[in-house]
Amino acid sequence: MKNYFYYKDKKQVVPVLDKEKNKLAKKKLAEIYKTRKKLIPEYFLEKWQDVALYNPSGDIEKANAILIDPENGAYDLSNHLNNMTGKEWVKFSCSWFIFNALQKDLKEEREISPNTQDHPATFSPTMIEDFVKFFTKKGENVLDPFCGIGSTLVACKRTGRVGYGIELNKKYYKLSIKRTPEFKKNIFNKNAEDIKKLNLPKIDYSISSPPYWNVLNRSTKNFKTDRTKNGFDVNYSEHQDDLGNVEDYELFLERLAKIYFDIFDLLKDGGYLTVIVKNIKKEGKMYPLAWDLARILSKKYQLKDEKLWIQDKVGLAPYGYPSAWASNILHHYCLIFKKK
Ligand SMILES: C[S@@+](CC[C@H](N)C(=O)[O-])C[C@H]1O[C@@H](n2cnc3c(N)ncnc32)[C@H](O)[C@@H]1O
Repeated sequence: MKNYFYYKDKKQVVPVLDKEKNKLAKKKLAEIYKTRKKLIPEYFLEKWQDVALYNPSGDIEKANAILIDPENGAYDLSNHLNNMTGKEWVKFSCSWFIFNALQKDLKEEREISPNTQDHPATFSPTMIEDFVKFFTKKGENVLDPFCGIGSTLVACKRTGRVGYGIELNKKYYKLSIKRTPEFKKNIFNKNAEDIKKLNLPKIDYSISSPPYWNVLNRSTKNFKTDRTKNGFDVNYSEHQDDLGNVEDYELFLERLAKIYFDIFDLLKDGGYLTVIVKNIKKEGKMYPLAWDLARILSKKYQLKDEKLWIQDKVGLAPYGYPSAWASNILHHYCLIFKKK
């Protein structure tokens, strides 16, 4: 006989063997399907015949979660944020993660166009998929105001979310469209500072990585020589609206923050914003870009916390050696804000 009810026993999710309780659970599941179908993620609907009811203490009256495979955890029907089971949720909640570029993503990019290598600072769609899956449900709207060659949009395509993007550089904008033609009408070749003029719909979640100030304009000689030799871009553009060309640090912060404040007005109440940035160094001085942005954006948003993205496959350069301390910065801050 199929088990319709599970509970937790000594940290293990196990079936309740009582026949009466299983009968009751089957009835309750049918009722949930009839009256609360909208709350059930697609994955559970597709396999509804395999779904069982779950309550950790085995209280059928209070049971409000469903599962298919106990190994994957149970989905709480009062989850308003995402389509994740408790197990998946907890896994994402770790405050750090290690992520290096994936061959799978590079292959996908290059199949679309070898020109994707032109862009000097992209992130991986696979990495962004995890964020999008945590902060939205299927079908919801996700915005990247600095979408580059469209990595966030690819993450949206893969996870069934609706992607919106803004990108100043026409070449990158065109690559975004090439990678995600389904979002063509949602991708704009514009200055993100004009976001309010774009008539965007309500946004459920925004994730982006802005220019890290003008860091590319003063990258190390090797970076420039290697990329120039291969015919790749060494900065995003020469455009005056390109935030990567703003010389003054305070002015850069002000213009960047204004874009995220405009997004505040587009975000649904309770929606989240993730900004991926790094603290940077210029001529021996540290500019705490991540911390400064966290402080400034907190004037409007609630700063929830950070998730550290660590790259552990990047070579170490002998900065400062042999006389002074200077680290190789191989971590980024994924700053997480909420619209309260
Ligand atoms: C760090 S990159 C983002 C890359 C993107 N995450 C990807 O994976 O392709 C920052 C992007 O912001 C764009 N940008 C700079 N200033 C902008 C502005 N004012 N409006 C819109 N995009 C801008 C740059 O052209 C660059 O592509």
